Amino acid sequence: MTDAPIPFGKPMLDRPVFDAVNEVLESGILVHGQVTPAFEEAFAARIGAKHAVAVSSCTAGLHLVLFVNGVGPGDRVAVPAMTHVATAHVVELQGAEPVFVDVDPATGNMDADLLAAVDGPLKAVMPVHYLGLPCAMDAINEAAAAKGAFVLEDCALAVDAVYGTKKAGTLGLAGAFSFYPVKHMTSIEGGMVTTDDEELATQLRKRRAFGYNRMLGERARPGIYDVDALGFNYRMSEVEAAVGLKQLDQLDGFMAARAKNAETLHAALSEIDGVTAFPLEHGPARSSFYCLNAVLPRDGSVDRDKVVDGLKARGIGSSIHYPGPVPLFTYYSEKYGYRRGDFPVAEWLADQTISLPVGPHLGEEGAGRIADAFRAAYDDAR
Ligand SMILES: Cc1ncc(COP(=O)(O)O)c(C=O)c1O
Repeated sequence: MTDAPIPFGKPMLDRPVFDAVNEVLESGILVHGQVTPAFEEAFAARIGAKHAVAVSSCTAGLHLVLFVNGVGPGDRVAVPAMTHVATAHVVELQGAEPVFVDVDPATGNMDADLLAAVDGPLKAVMPVHYLGLPCAMDAINEAAAAKGAFVLEDCALAVDAVYGTKKAGTLGLAGAFSFYPVKHMTSIEGGMVTTDDEELATQLRKRRAFGYNRMLGERARPGIYDVDALGFNYRMSEVEAAVGLKQLDQLDGFMAARAKNAETLHAALSEIDGVTAFPLEHGPARSSFYCLNAVLPRDGSVDRDKVVDGLKARGIGSSIHYPGPVPLFTYYSEKYGYRRGDFPVAEWLADQTISLPVGPHLGEEGAGRIADAFRAAYDDAR
Protein backbone atom coordinates (compact mmCIF):
# COMPACT_ATOMS: atom_id res chain seq x y z
CA MET A 1 0.00 0.00 0.00
CA THR A 2 1.41 3.43 -0.92
CA ASP A 3 1.30 6.25 1.60
CA ALA A 4 -1.37 8.91 1.10
CA PRO A 5 -0.06 12.21 -0.30
CA ILE A 6 0.56 14.97 2.24
CA PRO A 7 -0.71 18.36 1.04
CA PHE A 8 1.03 21.58 2.09
CA GLY A 9 -1.95 22.53 4.21
CA LYS A 10 -5.36 21.21 5.11
CA PRO A 11 -8.16 22.69 7.24
CA MET A 12 -8.91 20.48 10.26
CA LEU A 13 -12.70 20.37 10.29
CA ASP A 14 -14.79 17.91 12.27
CA ARG A 15 -18.33 17.22 13.44
CA PRO A 16 -18.47 20.02 16.08
CA VAL A 17 -17.59 22.53 13.35
CA PHE A 18 -20.23 21.15 10.98
CA ASP A 19 -22.83 21.23 13.78
CA ALA A 20 -21.95 24.82 14.69
CA VAL A 21 -22.29 25.87 11.05
CA ASN A 22 -25.65 24.13 10.75
CA GLU A 23 -26.86 25.80 13.92
CA VAL A 24 -26.09 29.23 12.46
CA LEU A 25 -27.70 28.36 9.12
CA GLU A 26 -30.82 27.04 10.84
CA SER A 27 -31.05 30.18 13.02
CA GLY A 28 -31.35 32.36 9.94
CA ILE A 29 -29.08 35.00 11.53
CA LEU A 30 -26.14 35.00 9.14
CA VAL A 31 -24.59 38.39 9.99
CA HIS A 32 -24.98 40.79 12.95
CA GLY A 33 -25.52 37.90 15.37
CA GLN A 34 -23.96 36.90 18.66
CA VAL A 35 -21.41 34.38 17.38
CA THR A 36 -19.04 37.00 15.93
CA PRO A 37 -18.74 38.94 19.23
CA ALA A 38 -18.18 35.63 21.05
CA PHE A 39 -15.37 34.75 18.60
CA GLU A 40 -13.86 38.23 19.04
CA GLU A 41 -13.90 37.94 22.81
CA ALA A 42 -12.34 34.46 22.80
CA PHE A 43 -9.65 35.48 20.31
CA ALA A 44 -8.73 38.64 22.25
CA ALA A 45 -8.36 36.52 25.41
CA ARG A 46 -6.19 33.98 23.60
CA ILE A 47 -3.82 36.64 22.23
CA GLY A 48 -3.84 38.80 25.35
CA ALA A 49 -5.21 41.88 23.57
CA LYS A 50 -7.89 44.17 25.02
CA HIS A 51 -9.91 44.18 21.80
CA ALA A 52 -10.36 41.96 18.77
CA VAL A 53 -12.39 43.04 15.74
CA ALA A 54 -13.46 40.36 13.27
CA VAL A 55 -13.12 41.21 9.59
CA SER A 56 -13.54 39.47 6.26
CA SER A 57 -9.80 38.74 5.77
CA CYS A 58 -6.38 39.74 7.04
CA THR A 59 -6.03 42.01 4.02
CA ALA A 60 -9.28 43.77 4.96
CA GLY A 61 -8.00 44.16 8.53
CA LEU A 62 -4.67 45.65 7.45
CA HIS A 63 -6.45 48.00 5.05
CA LEU A 64 -8.98 49.05 7.65
CA VAL A 65 -6.29 49.97 10.20
CA LEU A 66 -4.44 52.12 7.64
CA PHE A 67 -7.73 53.74 6.57
CA VAL A 68 -8.87 54.50 10.12
CA ASN A 69 -5.45 55.96 10.95
CA GLY A 70 -5.67 58.33 8.00
CA VAL A 71 -2.87 56.88 5.86
CA GLY A 72 -3.25 58.55 2.48
CA PRO A 73 -1.62 60.23 -0.48
CA GLY A 74 1.79 61.66 0.36
CA ASP A 75 2.36 59.18 3.20
CA ARG A 76 5.07 56.53 3.18
CA VAL A 77 4.70 53.17 4.91
CA ALA A 78 7.58 50.74 5.51
CA VAL A 79 6.91 47.11 4.55
CA PRO A 80 9.36 44.23 4.19
CA ALA A 81 10.44 43.31 0.68
CA MET A 82 9.69 39.66 1.47
CA THR A 83 6.01 39.27 2.26
CA HIS A 84 2.66 38.45 0.70
CA VAL A 85 1.64 41.16 -1.72
CA ALA A 86 -1.32 42.02 0.55
CA THR A 87 0.98 43.90 2.94
CA ALA A 88 2.01 46.35 0.22
CA HIS A 89 -1.29 46.43 -1.67
CA VAL A 90 -3.18 47.90 1.28
CA VAL A 91 -0.70 50.80 1.34
CA GLU A 92 -1.21 51.35 -2.40
CA LEU A 93 -4.98 51.14 -2.00
CA GLN A 94 -4.78 54.11 0.36
CA GLY A 95 -2.83 56.07 -2.23
CA ALA A 96 0.29 56.00 -0.03
CA GLU A 97 3.73 54.73 -1.02
CA PRO A 98 5.20 51.45 0.28
CA VAL A 99 8.85 51.83 1.25
CA PHE A 100 10.35 48.35 0.89
CA VAL A 101 12.94 47.24 3.43
CA ASP A 102 15.11 44.19 2.80
CA VAL A 103 15.02 41.35 5.31
CA ASP A 104 17.40 39.70 7.76
CA PRO A 105 18.98 36.59 6.19
CA ALA A 106 18.79 34.72 9.50
CA THR A 107 15.02 35.07 9.91
CA GLY A 108 13.45 36.52 6.76
CA ASN A 109 12.03 39.34 8.91
CA MET A 110 12.25 43.07 8.20
CA ASP A 111 15.84 44.17 8.93
CA ALA A 112 15.52 46.65 11.81
CA ASP A 113 18.85 48.34 10.99
CA LEU A 114 17.76 48.97 7.42
CA LEU A 115 14.43 50.29 8.72
CA ALA A 116 16.24 52.71 11.03
CA ALA A 117 18.34 53.85 8.06
CA VAL A 118 15.31 54.69 5.85
CA ASP A 119 15.55 58.34 4.75
CA GLY A 120 12.63 60.65 5.35
CA PRO A 121 9.41 60.39 7.31
CA LEU A 122 7.21 57.32 7.65
CA LYS A 123 3.56 57.32 8.64
CA ALA A 124 3.49 53.64 9.56
CA VAL A 125 5.68 50.55 9.78
CA MET A 126 4.24 47.12 8.95
CA PRO A 127 6.47 44.33 10.28
CA VAL A 128 5.47 40.91 8.98
CA HIS A 129 6.23 37.94 11.21
CA TYR A 130 7.67 35.83 8.42
CA LEU A 131 6.29 32.27 8.54
CA GLY A 132 5.27 32.91 12.14
CA LEU A 133 8.59 33.98 13.72
CA PRO A 134 8.15 37.37 15.41
CA CYS A 135 10.29 40.24 14.12
CA ALA A 136 12.86 42.01 16.31
CA MET A 137 10.05 44.14 17.70
CA ASP A 138 12.08 46.12 20.26
CA ALA A 139 14.33 47.49 17.53
CA ILE A 140 11.44 47.94 15.08
CA ASN A 141 9.30 49.81 17.60
CA GLU A 142 12.27 52.01 18.45
CA ALA A 143 12.97 52.82 14.79
CA ALA A 144 9.26 53.48 14.17
CA ALA A 145 8.99 55.76 17.20
CA ALA A 146 12.03 57.73 16.05
CA LYS A 147 10.16 58.47 12.83
CA GLY A 148 6.81 59.15 14.49
CA ALA A 149 5.28 56.12 12.75
CA PHE A 150 2.67 53.78 14.19
CA VAL A 151 3.28 50.01 14.01
CA LEU A 152 0.82 47.62 12.42
CA GLU A 153 1.85 43.97 12.72
CA ASP A 154 1.00 41.65 9.86
CA CYS A 155 0.22 38.51 11.88
CA ALA A 156 -1.26 36.54 8.97
CA LEU A 157 1.00 33.58 9.82
CA ALA A 158 1.60 34.32 13.49
CA VAL A 159 -1.28 33.06 15.65
CA ASP A 160 0.18 32.29 19.08
CA ALA A 161 3.70 33.43 18.13
CA VAL A 162 5.55 34.68 21.21
CA TYR A 163 7.95 37.59 21.72
CA GLY A 164 9.31 37.73 25.25
CA THR A 165 6.25 37.57 27.48
CA LYS A 166 3.77 38.78 24.86
CA LYS A 167 2.13 37.39 21.78
CA ALA A 168 2.22 38.69 18.23
CA GLY A 169 -0.70 41.04 17.74
CA THR A 170 0.04 42.90 20.99
CA LEU A 171 3.47 44.26 20.02
CA GLY A 172 2.43 47.39 18.11
CA LEU A 173 -0.63 49.61 17.79
CA ALA A 174 -2.56 46.76 16.16
CA GLY A 175 -2.10 43.36 14.53
CA ALA A 176 -4.04 41.63 11.76
CA PHE A 177 -4.50 37.83 11.57
CA SER A 178 -5.64 35.57 8.74
CA PHE A 179 -8.00 32.61 8.98
CA TYR A 180 -7.63 31.52 5.36
CA PRO A 181 -8.19 27.72 5.12
CA VAL A 182 -4.59 26.50 5.45
CA LYS A 183 -3.63 28.81 8.31
CA HIS A 184 -3.17 27.66 11.94
CA MET A 185 -6.94 27.90 12.31
CA THR A 186 -9.59 28.85 9.82
CA SER A 187 -12.91 30.65 9.57
CA ILE A 188 -13.12 29.77 5.83
CA GLU A 189 -12.10 33.30 4.76
CA GLY A 190 -11.73 35.76 7.60
CA GLY A 191 -9.39 37.79 9.73
CA MET A 192 -9.10 39.53 13.09
CA VAL A 193 -7.57 42.82 14.17
CA THR A 194 -6.25 42.99 17.72
CA THR A 195 -5.45 46.18 19.60
CA ASP A 196 -5.31 47.59 23.12
CA ASP A 197 -6.56 50.97 21.85
CA GLU A 198 -10.26 51.32 22.63
CA GLU A 199 -10.91 54.26 20.31
CA LEU A 200 -9.20 52.43 17.44
CA ALA A 201 -11.33 49.33 18.11
CA THR A 202 -14.51 51.45 18.10
CA GLN A 203 -13.55 53.03 14.79
CA LEU A 204 -12.62 49.66 13.27
CA ARG A 205 -16.06 48.28 14.20
CA LYS A 206 -17.80 51.27 12.70
CA ARG A 207 -15.75 51.46 9.51
CA ARG A 208 -15.94 47.74 8.79
CA ALA A 209 -19.69 48.34 8.42
CA PHE A 210 -20.13 51.36 6.13
CA GLY A 211 -19.60 54.00 8.85
CA TYR A 212 -23.12 53.48 10.26
CA ASN A 213 -23.65 55.49 13.43
CA ARG A 214 -25.83 52.68 14.83
CA MET A 215 -25.28 48.96 14.40
CA LEU A 216 -28.25 46.70 13.70
CA GLY A 217 -28.97 45.92 17.36
CA GLU A 218 -28.66 49.58 18.40
CA ARG A 219 -31.40 50.97 16.19
CA ALA A 220 -34.55 52.22 17.93
CA ARG A 221 -36.51 51.78 14.71
CA PRO A 222 -35.59 49.14 12.14
CA GLY A 223 -33.67 50.48 9.17
CA ILE A 224 -33.07 53.92 10.68
CA TYR A 225 -29.46 55.01 10.92
CA ASP A 226 -27.21 57.87 9.94
CA VAL A 227 -23.81 57.61 8.28
CA ASP A 228 -21.28 60.10 9.60
CA ALA A 229 -18.11 58.54 8.19
CA LEU A 230 -16.80 56.56 5.23
CA GLY A 231 -16.53 52.80 5.63
CA PHE A 232 -16.38 49.43 3.90
CA ASN A 233 -18.26 46.19 4.12
CA TYR A 234 -15.47 44.18 5.74
CA ARG A 235 -17.68 42.24 8.18
CA MET A 236 -17.27 38.59 9.09
CA SER A 237 -20.35 36.39 8.67
CA GLU A 238 -21.82 34.37 11.52
CA VAL A 239 -21.02 31.13 9.70
CA GLU A 240 -17.35 32.10 9.49
CA ALA A 241 -17.32 33.15 13.14
CA ALA A 242 -18.88 29.82 14.16
CA VAL A 243 -16.10 27.94 12.36
CA GLY A 244 -13.45 30.18 13.92
CA LEU A 245 -14.86 29.82 17.42
CA LYS A 246 -14.85 26.01 17.20
CA GLN A 247 -11.32 26.04 15.79
CA LEU A 248 -10.17 28.05 18.81
CA ASP A 249 -11.39 25.21 21.04
CA GLN A 250 -8.96 22.90 19.24
CA LEU A 251 -6.08 25.30 18.75
CA ASP A 252 -3.96 23.96 21.64
CA GLY A 253 -3.85 20.53 20.00
CA PHE A 254 -3.16 22.01 16.55
CA MET A 255 -0.30 24.11 17.92
CA ALA A 256 1.27 21.21 19.82
CA ALA A 257 1.27 19.12 16.64
CA ARG A 258 2.81 21.99 14.66
CA ALA A 259 5.59 22.46 17.23
CA LYS A 260 6.41 18.76 17.26
CA ASN A 261 6.42 18.43 13.46
CA ALA A 262 8.48 21.61 13.03
CA GLU A 263 11.06 20.44 15.56
CA THR A 264 11.36 16.99 13.91
CA LEU A 265 11.79 18.50 10.48
CA HIS A 266 14.15 21.20 11.68
CA ALA A 267 16.45 18.60 13.24
CA ALA A 268 16.40 16.47 10.08
CA LEU A 269 17.05 19.34 7.67
CA SER A 270 19.82 20.78 9.82
CA GLU A 271 21.83 17.64 9.12
CA ILE A 272 21.71 18.06 5.34
CA ASP A 273 24.83 19.66 3.94
CA GLY A 274 24.12 23.01 2.28
CA VAL A 275 20.55 23.33 3.58
CA THR A 276 19.58 25.97 6.15
CA ALA A 277 16.45 25.27 8.15
CA PHE A 278 14.90 28.56 9.20
CA PRO A 279 14.96 29.02 12.99
CA LEU A 280 12.02 28.19 15.22
CA GLU A 281 13.33 30.55 17.91
CA HIS A 282 15.46 33.66 17.67
CA GLY A 283 16.31 35.78 20.72
CA PRO A 284 13.02 36.49 22.50
CA ALA A 285 10.98 35.29 19.50
CA ARG A 286 9.35 31.86 19.32
CA SER A 287 7.65 30.84 16.09
CA SER A 288 4.05 29.85 15.64
CA PHE A 289 5.32 27.20 13.20
CA TYR A 290 3.31 28.05 10.12
CA CYS A 291 5.64 25.92 7.99
CA LEU A 292 9.32 25.06 7.88
CA ASN A 293 11.44 26.80 5.31
CA ALA A 294 14.34 24.87 3.85
CA VAL A 295 16.75 27.35 2.31
CA LEU A 296 19.00 26.06 -0.46
CA PRO A 297 22.57 27.29 -1.04
CA ARG A 298 22.74 30.94 -2.00
CA ASP A 299 25.00 30.19 -4.98
CA GLY A 300 22.09 28.52 -6.76
CA SER A 301 24.00 25.23 -7.06
CA VAL A 302 20.85 23.24 -6.27
CA ASP A 303 17.91 23.49 -8.67
CA ARG A 304 14.87 24.32 -6.56
CA ASP A 305 12.39 23.22 -9.21
CA LYS A 306 13.96 19.77 -9.20
CA VAL A 307 13.67 19.50 -5.42
CA VAL A 308 10.01 20.60 -5.53
CA ASP A 309 9.30 18.12 -8.34
CA GLY A 310 11.08 15.39 -6.38
CA LEU A 311 8.94 16.12 -3.34
CA LYS A 312 5.80 16.06 -5.45
CA ALA A 313 6.79 12.74 -7.02
CA ARG A 314 7.07 11.36 -3.48
CA GLY A 315 3.61 12.67 -2.53
CA ILE A 316 4.77 15.66 -0.48
CA GLY A 317 3.13 19.05 -1.02
CA SER A 318 5.18 22.20 -0.58
CA SER A 319 4.87 25.92 -1.14
CA ILE A 320 7.07 28.98 -1.70
CA HIS A 321 7.03 32.04 0.59
CA TYR A 322 6.99 34.07 -1.44
CA PRO A 323 7.48 33.66 -5.20
CA GLY A 324 9.17 37.06 -5.52
CA PRO A 325 10.15 40.07 -3.46
CA VAL A 326 7.05 42.28 -3.66
CA PRO A 327 8.94 45.26 -5.20
CA LEU A 328 9.98 43.03 -8.10
CA PHE A 329 6.43 41.99 -8.97
CA THR A 330 5.52 43.68 -12.25
CA TYR A 331 3.02 46.13 -10.72
CA TYR A 332 5.60 47.51 -8.27
CA SER A 333 8.69 47.35 -10.45
CA GLU A 334 6.92 49.17 -13.28
CA LYS A 335 5.44 51.79 -10.96
CA TYR A 336 8.53 52.49 -8.83
CA GLY A 337 11.41 51.32 -11.04
CA TYR A 338 12.76 48.61 -8.73
CA ARG A 339 15.05 46.05 -10.34
CA ARG A 340 16.93 42.86 -9.49
CA GLY A 341 19.77 43.49 -7.06
CA ASP A 342 17.83 46.09 -5.04
CA PHE A 343 16.75 43.56 -2.35
CA PRO A 344 19.43 40.85 -2.33
CA VAL A 345 18.24 38.90 0.72
CA ALA A 346 14.57 38.87 -0.31
CA GLU A 347 15.63 37.79 -3.80
CA TRP A 348 17.66 34.90 -2.41
CA LEU A 349 14.76 33.73 -0.26
CA ALA A 350 12.31 34.03 -3.15
CA ASP A 351 14.57 31.98 -5.38
CA GLN A 352 15.95 29.40 -2.98
CA THR A 353 13.44 28.53 -0.27
CA ILE A 354 10.97 25.69 -0.11
CA SER A 355 8.22 25.77 2.51
CA LEU A 356 7.45 22.36 3.98
CA PRO A 357 4.22 21.46 5.78
CA VAL A 358 4.11 21.07 9.56
CA GLY A 359 0.35 21.22 10.20
CA PRO A 360 -1.64 18.79 12.35
CA HIS A 361 -2.75 16.97 9.18
CA LEU A 362 0.70 15.31 9.05
CA GLY A 363 -0.24 12.82 11.76
CA GLU A 364 2.37 10.77 13.61
CA GLU A 365 4.48 9.64 10.66
CA GLY A 366 4.23 12.68 8.39
CA ALA A 367 7.24 14.72 9.54
CA GLY A 368 9.54 11.70 9.16
CA ARG A 369 8.18 10.98 5.68
CA ILE A 370 8.72 14.60 4.63
CA ALA A 371 12.30 14.56 5.94
CA ASP A 372 13.06 11.33 4.02
CA ALA A 373 11.48 12.66 0.85
CA PHE A 374 13.35 15.95 1.13
CA ARG A 375 16.70 14.22 1.59
CA ALA A 376 16.10 12.04 -1.48
CA ALA A 377 14.79 14.91 -3.65
CA TYR A 378 17.70 17.13 -2.60
CA ASP A 379 20.27 14.44 -3.45
CA ASP A 380 18.68 13.97 -6.88
CA ALA A 381 18.80 17.74 -7.53
CA ARG A 382 22.50 18.22 -6.76
C1 LIG B 1 2.03 37.86 5.36
C2 LIG B 1 0.63 37.83 4.82
N1 LIG B 1 -0.15 38.93 4.94
C3 LIG B 1 -1.42 38.93 4.49
C4 LIG B 1 -1.97 37.83 3.88
C5 LIG B 1 -3.39 37.88 3.38
O1 LIG B 1 -4.27 37.17 4.21
P1 LIG B 1 -5.80 37.02 3.80
O2 LIG B 1 -5.88 35.99 2.72
O3 LIG B 1 -6.52 36.59 5.04
O4 LIG B 1 -6.27 38.36 3.34
C6 LIG B 1 -1.21 36.68 3.73
C7 LIG B 1 -1.77 35.47 3.10
O5 LIG B 1 -1.27 34.39 3.22
C8 LIG B 1 0.12 36.66 4.22
O6 LIG B 1 0.92 35.59 4.06
